[in-house]
This record gives sequence, structure tokens and C-alpha cells, in this order.
Amino acid sequence: MCGIVGYIGSRPAADIVVSGLKKLEYRGYDSAGLAVLDPAAPSIGLFRAVGKIAELDKAIASHPPASTCTVGIGHTRWATHGAPTVANAHPHLSMDGRIAVVHNGIIENYLALRSRLESKGYVFKSETDTEVLAHLIQDCLDGGLAESVMRALVHVEGTYGIAVVSSDFPGVLVAARKGSPIVIGDCRGEAIVASDVSAIIQHTDKVVFLDDGDVAVLTPEGAELRTLGNSTVSRSSTVVDWDPGAIEKGGFEHFMLKEIFEQPEAIANTIRGRLLLDDGTCKLSGLQLDPQKMAEITNIVVTACGTSYYAGLVGSYAFEQFAGIPARIEQAAEFRYRNPIIAPNTALVSISQSGETADTLAAVREAKRKGALTLSICNVVGSTIAREAGRGVYLHAGPEIGVASTKAFICQVAVLDMMAIMLGRTRRMSNSEGTTMVAAMLRLPEIVKRVLEQNDAIRAIAEKYHQARDFFYIGRGYMFPAALEGALKLKEISYIHAEGYHAAELKHGPIALLDEHVPVVACVPQIPGHRKTLGNVQECRARRAPVIAIATEGDPDIGGLANDVISIPECPEFIAPIPVVVAEQLFAYHMANLRGEPIDQPRNLAKSVTVE
Ligand code: F6R
Repeated sequence: MCGIVGYIGSRPAADIVVSGLKKLEYRGYDSAGLAVLDPAAPSIGLFRAVGKIAELDKAIASHPPASTCTVGIGHTRWATHGAPTVANAHPHLSMDGRIAVVHNGIIENYLALRSRLESKGYVFKSETDTEVLAHLIQDCLDGGLAESVMRALVHVEGTYGIAVVSSDFPGVLVAARKGSPIVIGDCRGEAIVASDVSAIIQHTDKVVFLDDGDVAVLTPEGAELRTLGNSTVSRSSTVVDWDPGAIEKGGFEHFMLKEIFEQPEAIANTIRGRLLLDDGTCKLSGLQLDPQKMAEITNIVVTACGTSYYAGLVGSYAFEQFAGIPARIEQAAEFRYRNPIIAPNTALVSISQSGETADTLAAVREAKRKGALTLSICNVVGSTIAREAGRGVYLHAGPEIGVASTKAFICQVAVLDMMAIMLGRTRRMSNSEGTTMVAAMLRLPEIVKRVLEQNDAIRAIAEKYHQARDFFYIGRGYMFPAALEGALKLKEISYIHAEGYHAAELKHGPIALLDEHVPVVACVPQIPGHRKTLGNVQECRARRAPVIAIATEGDPDIGGLANDVISIPECPEFIAPIPVVVAEQLFAYHMANLRGEPIDQPRNLAKSVTVE
């Protein structure tokens, strides 16, 4: 979604801001812009363009700002209010042209604010909610820029992460946050702000995440934090252990392919130090659960969106099967509006790669309000959901830049499996059962590697099917979430219509669509339910649907049944979604690549969905 970068210091701001924006491209956007000013001769230089940052680069190159412009803010916009046009691109200027604002989030009362400002004579040039902020700050101008911003924000309902500069106050850059992330780099002799650490880590690994209601006042001397009521606050800094090289493609054609191939290492990092073979259990210290606290949990509600939701579905099965705790999964977008019943001693497990997904965050807050014990599984350290939940597990998967989630899914499943083992061992699971499961999990990096070795074979299969218009993915048990995730991966990057179905549900309606033009991907490794799914594969073949099976190596029955087979190593059912989904990721990747689609930035999609 939208991205923000701001800089104040002694170096040319345009270069730093635009290079930061490039690091945020993965989030998805449709226009970009930059505002710079020279502290010695302050007037705001504005550059905006529709399309990729290369277009913004061209706009800047046609009137390059002086190197003395050492203050700047930039933005990548993912359209919500108004089409992607130059007029709607950020930064937006106040009517007097002396204040520039970039904004992530949604101003919910912008129509009311707009008509109030229009009645005072303010003229709007865009359809955006953000422009309201620029005029509102001008209208509230009294004293310094920070105080004026605070005064304006009091009138704002909705969510925002903003950065503001003014030619009247060239020595200061103001940022503020409510519901949309803002992070400050802890630098010397300059200050940098962004909506995402990816734009900061090439400058410093020490960052400070703003809390809701915080206002940061940045000067070349550093950052000072205040509340909206203008009292000073302090927030501790976090060290981000991402290698800046991890946000480069490293020789791969796309971030998605790089991240697919990083998975053996990512999952090794997720399980490292957490699997206790001798005790047949797992150690997840961030959950802060002693055996007594674990024993008190009588219900688990899992919540998430998209791919993380499908990982959560795997987790909900594992919690019931291995921990014997009743578990259900809820779509985060439904959670707070459905007013769910949260029984006493319920643990709410929220899952989010980014840790910023608006619906998942709202679900965590709602569950907290209803007295649940909130536990999170996030990848981004210090992210809002991780902080809001208070207890949690980080994936340590490294930055995921490709819009389509890959390594986060498999690491989320690994964490959920570890939680199930840990909870199970405080209940009915024996040491030997736990040891067998832990031993299986220790093989995961190797299992994933074996699937990746089939990359060329999977590409060859994709060559046969990449012209298809519709696909079905089927599976049962632990393969049902894998079918859902496979279909999501295919549709989001190749734009082929794909539906994930429970293998048994197919004949309750959708089988009517099957014919020789509609391939079916059958997730059918040798785990419980295997025989029954083979029966469903027969039903597909009887309707002439071509079948691509993802099956266990050496399965004697599958060759005669499926048109094409992708093999995964033998493994128990609770980890089987991991290799199956890795095979699906490669298949979706090659399908999209053969169709020439922009894999890392699929149309209409954003990496981190910070609006409802
Ligand atoms: C699909 C995908 C999305 C995300 C979803 C939740 O490939 O990436 O479906 O899984 O938007 O995002 P997080 O996990 O950041 O909460």
C-alpha cells in the first residue's frame, strides 16, 4: 500500500527520499511524488507522476532540485480516494503552497472537513482525503509547525501516518501516527522517517516505531517525540536484524522467486533454538506462557487475512489434534463486526506477516477488549500487531518483498505447529509423540530443498498449462488449506481464475464446471484422507479435466491417475502443507512468468493492507 519517506539533514534530500521510495515499491502503488525544500531559500519544489518511480525520476530530471534542498518528503500512492492521476498523487500542498503533506491511511470525516474548509474559501485541487490535511494545517497555523499539525489532527477521524514540511519552518519535518505505521531511523546529524523499515535500513539498523497518538519532530539534530497534547514522550529503539542485501533481488529475476528459494534458510531460522528434541517439545519464549498459564487455555481462536489465514487454518487443525484444545478460525475482517463470543480462558492467535494488516489489528484489539489472551505470529519485528498483542512469536524469515506471500506462509505454519506441540506436551501428548513430531520438523529445511530441486520440472508442467483460463485446487484435511493457498497464489500473480475447494465439496456444485479445459491441481500426498482424495481425482478425470497431482515421492497409484505429478518427500500430515505449498508457489510463479505478468507487483494488490 502507500509508502512514506522523509529526510532532513545535510545531504540532497531528493536522492535519499527517492531511493527510499524504491525500497517501498514492493508494497504496490500507482503514482509517486516528492516535495523538497532548501532551508536557505525556502520554497517547496513539487514533483509528481503517475505510474512507476521511473516516471517520477523523469519528472525530477527535467527540473532537478538544487543539491542544497536538504529537506524532503516522498510518497508512493495506492489509490483509495480518486483515480491514480498527477493531481491525486501526494505530496499535497496547502492553498498557499507553503505546506506539503504525505499521508497513508484514510481520513474518515474528510467530506465534512472538506466542506467546512471550502466554506472558508479553501480551493481543492484533488479528489483525495489527504488534501484536507494540507489545508487544515494551514488553517490551524499558529506557533510552530508541530503545534499546528497537532491542532489540525484533533479534528481528524480515521487513520493516518503523515509527514509534513513547510517553507515557513524549513528546519523541521513533522511526522505523526494513528493507525498507520511510522518509523524513525536513529541517525546522527540527520533524521529519516518512513512508513516501513525497508526504506531505512540502508541508513541505520536502529529504529523507533511511533505509537498511535505520537508526533515526531525531526530536525538535522535528530528526532524528538511528543504526544498529540504536546507532552514529551520517549519510545525505546529497536535493532532490526535484517541484512540490507536481503531487500535486493540477488540475481533472481523476481523477489518472489528469490524468496521461494530462500525458504530452506527461512524455515531453519524460524525453528532454530525452538525445537527441543530430547524433551519432545518446543520453546517459544515470546509467548511468555508457563505450563500453568498454558493449562488454563480452554479455547483458541485463530484470526488472520489472506495467506496468513490459510496458515491459520492449518494451525487450527493442529491445535485440536495435538493439543486437544477446541480451536476455530475467524476471518479477521469479520471478527469485530460479528461480535464473536470469547469464552473465558480463550487465547486469540493472530497471524500477520507484516504485522500491520488493519483487519487483523482490529481483531486483536477487539479480542483484548473481550478479555482474550492475545498472542501474535508476525514477521516484522516491532510491528503494530506484535506490540498490540504483547506476547508473540517472530518468524525470523527475513524481509518479504514480493507482494505474493511465500516464505511467511511456511514459517507461519512451522510456528503454529510448534505452538501445537508445546501446548500438547502440557496436556495429553507423550514425550515419544512429541519427539517424533519435533524430529519431523527438524527435517523441514531439507524437505523444502527437495521440492525446490524440481524447479525445472515444475516449469515444464507450467508450460503445458499456462494458457488455461480456469483452475481448481482440491484437497482434504491438512491439504484443504494447501488447496486454498495454491489457488490464491495462482490467481493473484497470473490472473488465472482459480478456486480452492475441499475435495469432497467439488461434487456439491463446482464439478459442473469441469471439462478438458479446466485443469485440477490435486493436493494428494500420502497422509490421512489420501485414498479418498484419489477417489475425487477419479471423478475429475471422468469429466476429462487434466489433473496435476502433488503427491508423495514413489506413490504407486498416482502415475496412472494424474496427467502430471509433482513429488514431495514423505512427511507427516501436520507439516505436509509446507512442501505442498512450496510446489504450488513455484507452479504459480512459472505460470505467471510464462504469461509475462509483473510478478512482484501484481495489479491492484498491495503488500501490507492497512485499510479495512
Ligand atoms: C497473498 C498475500 C495476502 C496476505 C494478507 C495478509 O499472497 O500476501 O493474502 O497474506 O494480505 O497480510 P499479513 O500477513 O501481512 O497480515
